[in-house]
Amino acid sequence: MEVKKILLTEDEMPRQWYNIAADMPTAMQPPLHPGTGQPVGPDDLAPIFPMNLIEQEVSTERWIDIPDEVLGVLKIWRPAPLVRAYNLEKALDTPAKIYYKNESYSPAGSHKPNTAVPQAYYNKVFGTKHITTETGAGQWGSALSFAGAQYGIDIVVYMVKISYQQKPYRRLMMNTWGAQCYASPSTRTEAGRKMLEKDPDTPGSLGMAISEAVEAAVSREDTKYALGSVLNHVMTHQTIIGLEALKQFEKVGDYPDIVIGCAGGGSNFAGLSFPFARDKIHGKEMRIIAVEPTSCPTMTRGPFAYDFGDTVQMTPLLPMHTLGHDFVPAPIHAGGLRYHGMAPQVSQLIEDKIIEPLAVHQIETFEAGVLFARTEGIIPAPETDHAIAAVIREAKRAKEEGKEKTILFNMSGHGLVDLAAYDAYFSGKLSDYALPEEEIERALKTIESLPKINAG
Ligand SMILES: Cc1ncc(COP(=O)(O)O)c(C=O)c1O
Repeated sequence: MEVKKILLTEDEMPRQWYNIAADMPTAMQPPLHPGTGQPVGPDDLAPIFPMNLIEQEVSTERWIDIPDEVLGVLKIWRPAPLVRAYNLEKALDTPAKIYYKNESYSPAGSHKPNTAVPQAYYNKVFGTKHITTETGAGQWGSALSFAGAQYGIDIVVYMVKISYQQKPYRRLMMNTWGAQCYASPSTRTEAGRKMLEKDPDTPGSLGMAISEAVEAAVSREDTKYALGSVLNHVMTHQTIIGLEALKQFEKVGDYPDIVIGCAGGGSNFAGLSFPFARDKIHGKEMRIIAVEPTSCPTMTRGPFAYDFGDTVQMTPLLPMHTLGHDFVPAPIHAGGLRYHGMAPQVSQLIEDKIIEPLAVHQIETFEAGVLFARTEGIIPAPETDHAIAAVIREAKRAKEEGKEKTILFNMSGHGLVDLAAYDAYFSGKLSDYALPEEEIERALKTIESLPKINAG
């Protein structure tokens, strides 16, 4: 009988995360202080993050132990199965073997709890009482709310206004786990009030919500801030996905030729792909593809440059692909992919040609998600649909070339709380949107006066 799910026992769960900083082909550029433009040290980050997470952020140790208290909570849904998508293969009549890592099993329904749990844990150990954060689609906010409840930490979430309006159930999930959630920009912070003054009808953006959450964190001693993507320690926590997948492939004697993930800030993509990227850096032939929307083409069209992570320029300057810190993306339905920047590690690996970026149109992504739902059963999140669209392109290419490729992708989340997006697709209300060239030129202008990346 064909094996559908390749499973690991709890005993086989990885006991360490993989930190790709130890294997980067090009050394990372340091984050810079927003005021002085000088490299930031751990002390500069101390008002925002607990020191134990700052140590991980700057660590170059290849392996970092996963505390037992974290493993205990991750076991609620991990290890996650590696699944062979036989029905999708059949529907596409492709010689390609398609596998996916199913991250939709977690309590919040996505990969986000893989880092929410350790971040809440390290804050607890440090003595933090409250954590503030932002959320786009609501996945990260709900993941952190779940994790906060596990360790008894109070969570306050600033949710991008358009998503807050489109996704009331995400807010209710956060409330059920005991967190407070506010539409951003809000009147609760100085940054929010300024943004509302400028444009009272703004749909909000992740950049704006980050400004609010950071301001709320630095204004109290017992409060820290948590970020669900972009930063090095978040990428590291997510590598449990790829480390499990490596063990699962070993069990069936296979290995992927192509690894695919969607990328908003880069974390689910990095989590799946970095353990494989390690092999590629050391000479293995394979392709690693990061997929983004054409409406927010950070990796494919944004320059690699220093930029702020937020709109009001409070965060350190990060070396990354960016569309400019004041970029307000079109209100497409994949809310988690509407961020102006990209993880510095993912950005650097694009420069180093380890990772290939790809942009796809919105309608193609929903076509892909619907085909996946009708063949494999699970209704994917609109973000995940981007990865599936790329998988389908590669499976079709394998058919044209008559090659039996092994494709692995990250099923980063289910779309059960995103059905309004599918409704918009079915009723023909969605359109494709490519960012006009003027927007890219505008992005270049907003970063013109910032420090430049040292190419040498
Ligand atoms: C299901 C899902 N996939 C992907 C993403 C994109 O985020 P990241 O690039 O950090 O994985 C999100 C973000 O909210 C998400 O909810």
